[in-house]
Amino acid sequence: MRLFQYALALAGLSASALAQSADSYIATEAPIAKAGLLANIGPSGSKASGAKSGIVIASPSTSNPNYLYTWTRDSSLVFKVVVDQLTLGLDTSLRGLADGFLVAQQTIQQVSNPSGTVSTGGLGEPKFNIDETAFTGAWGRPQRDGPALRSTTLITYANWLLDNSNSTFVTNTLWPIIKLDLDYVASNWNQSTFDLWEEVQSSSFFTTAVQHRALRQGAALAARIGQSGSTYNAQAAGLLCFLQSYWNPTGGYVTANTGGGRSGRDANTVLTSIHTFDITAGCDATTFQPCSDKALSNLKVYVDAFRSVYSINSGIASTSPVATGRYPEDSYYSGNPWYLATFAVAEQLYDALLTWQSLGSLNVTSTSLAFFRQFNSTVAVGTYPSSSSTYAALTSAVKSFADGTVSVNAKYTPSNGGLSEQYDKNSGSPLSAVDLTWSYASALTAFMARNGTVPASWGAAGLTVPSTCPSGGSSGSGGSGGTVAVTFNVHATTVWGENIYLTGSVNELQNWSPSTALLMSSANYPTWSLTVNLPASASIQYKYIRIFNGAVTWESDPNNSLTTPSSGSFTVNDSWR
Ligand SMILES: *[C@@H]1O[C@H](CO)[C@@H](O)[C@H](O)[C@H]1NC(C)=O
Ligand SMILES: *[C@@H]1O[C@H](CO)[C@@H](O)[C@H](O)[C@H]1NC(C)=O
Ligand SMILES: *[C@@H]1O[C@H](CO)[C@@H](O)[C@H](O)[C@H]1NC(C)=O
Ligand SMILES: *[C@@H]1O[C@H](CO)[C@@H](O)[C@H](O)[C@H]1NC(C)=O
Ligand SMILES: *[C@@H]1O[C@H](CO)[C@@H](O)[C@H](O)[C@H]1NC(C)=O
Ligand SMILES: *[C@@H]1O[C@H](CO)[C@@H](O)[C@H](O)[C@H]1NC(C)=O
Ligand SMILES: *[C@@H]1O[C@H](CO)[C@@H](O)[C@H](O)[C@H]1NC(C)=O
Repeated sequence: MRLFQYALALAGLSASALAQSADSYIATEAPIAKAGLLANIGPSGSKASGAKSGIVIASPSTSNPNYLYTWTRDSSLVFKVVVDQLTLGLDTSLRGLADGFLVAQQTIQQVSNPSGTVSTGGLGEPKFNIDETAFTGAWGRPQRDGPALRSTTLITYANWLLDNSNSTFVTNTLWPIIKLDLDYVASNWNQSTFDLWEEVQSSSFFTTAVQHRALRQGAALAARIGQSGSTYNAQAAGLLCFLQSYWNPTGGYVTANTGGGRSGRDANTVLTSIHTFDITAGCDATTFQPCSDKALSNLKVYVDAFRSVYSINSGIASTSPVATGRYPEDSYYSGNPWYLATFAVAEQLYDALLTWQSLGSLNVTSTSLAFFRQFNSTVAVGTYPSSSSTYAALTSAVKSFADGTVSVNAKYTPSNGGLSEQYDKNSGSPLSAVDLTWSYASALTAFMARNGTVPASWGAAGLTVPSTCPSGGSSGSGGSGGTVAVTFNVHATTVWGENIYLTGSVNELQNWSPSTALLMSSANYPTWSLTVNLPASASIQYKYIRIFNGAVTWESDPNNSLTTPSSGSFTVNDSWR
């Protein structure tokens, strides 16, 4: 019955039939997805036994594949849905869960792991055991999107608490957790990373984009609560500049990773568009907003890449929706469609429709022409106001394409509504991990977008790209433009409430400014530590300072000095003088 219904919908029926099909699927699937998501959160989720409070298991599957771990990326994306539903007033019962998440993440941040300690790179560790201990096996690490996504979720929660007059909790409890992640992003964004699929170590569009978003939000939150976040916007400018370089103008798409040896067409880019959506930015291509010409062109290239690689897509018209996966060259489980990738296509289009509606027009540009010509083969470059028939026809066709994309997933959703990670490219049967928490989250965000839910703005409006791209930490010493990660350790005993900071002769060390000096971590007290990206092959002077009740005490002379190596990393071990 159900399969029959969706098969009909896919056979190219009218817009209203497609909408009806999506409506009926969503009516049954939305509560299943919500329950499926909640079942995978400890300690009381029905499929999350053994998970600590606030810990999200990736899936209850323990073999082929074993996903009974908690990933920082997946958990943060899942909890973004929880926090959005809470803060947008859709489900006020979720506050206890949100609090559980922040306590769990506060704990996880401090767990020493193969990537390091909290102050030496450990925040880049991608996954942990569900009892909050370190996973010590070999893995693709670090993955630097995790701290960014976690801070975005926590900042969203913090802003809502502030709106509700709970600033003490934000300043005392949330901000220190958020700041650790933001400081990690600010000092490490210009280092290579494993991508969100944990396969390619290079630079990754998704990672760069979510890092940029996190630092913008972080700077705004810092300002709102009177904390220092002065470095975040400067680093964000470097990220925004770097973000532009992923665009491939010839191919009309965003190259997902700088490495990996593939075409670069990848769901990474569509996920970026939906996870950095900010309706106040309109259709700005600077941040690849869902309705920007670059993101729409990219979407078409991405979707088309899967038309011939999955046999379940064969025979479908070249302008109709199809199942999509991570990237066309994928060989994991022989390479198949993923629910979350297919839902992301629909969500980007729902976001675009919301934005055009709010702007009262849509633009067809030379960059987005191929995308729009799927729906009107003679449409011309121009601005179409919402009163025009072309606007009405195009937006109706885009809505049908999005609904049809939901119906593709519907067709391959088993009758119990469970969403695994993938479905078979030949038979359409569910495949790989069952009950993937991220699959459920992706269904919910797509449904929410279709329903007109607009997530809180993060400050994407009106951003401009600097004319020259500063690299990590900016500043021009070290002619190669390369950076090295330098860890400073200093042995210093302090009194309660007193902290040790670092400052020095380069921008990355705040140019000797005591008011913006970098706070060091006391996790290994009496050793205070901090890792900073500094220009390679550069000679640098620095000092540690103590700040107690606002009073600054400098180390005695002379200045400390070091020369950074040409690549790699470096550790200095000092004692307070
Ligand atoms: C502030 O929010 C936190 C987290 O939900 C809660 O534990 C605390 O009781 C709240 N404080 C006030 C004054 O509402
Ligand atoms: C660092 O930033 C520069 C400037 O945007 C960029 O060219 C380079 O590829 C980046 N490297 C990494 C590893 O992020
Ligand atoms: C259309 O393009 C114009 C000129 O670039 C711009 O000002 C306007 O915001 C755009 N509108 C939309 C809906 O993208
Ligand atoms: C297709 O686009 C052309 C050119 O902009 C326009 O004249 C025509 O009305 C459009 N067709 C439909 C069905 O909207
Ligand atoms: C969509 O909105 C309607 C009306 O507000 C609500 O009843 C429904 O639960 C929402 N559905 C989803 C999936 O959010
Ligand atoms: C340390 O560096 C600062 C800033 O360049 C300089 O003003 C100061 O004289 C230096 N101190 C010594 C002892 O060289
Ligand atoms: C600092 O100590 C670490 C080990 O604790 C060591 O690996 C490193 O070489 C030391 N750095 C210097 C400059 O001696």
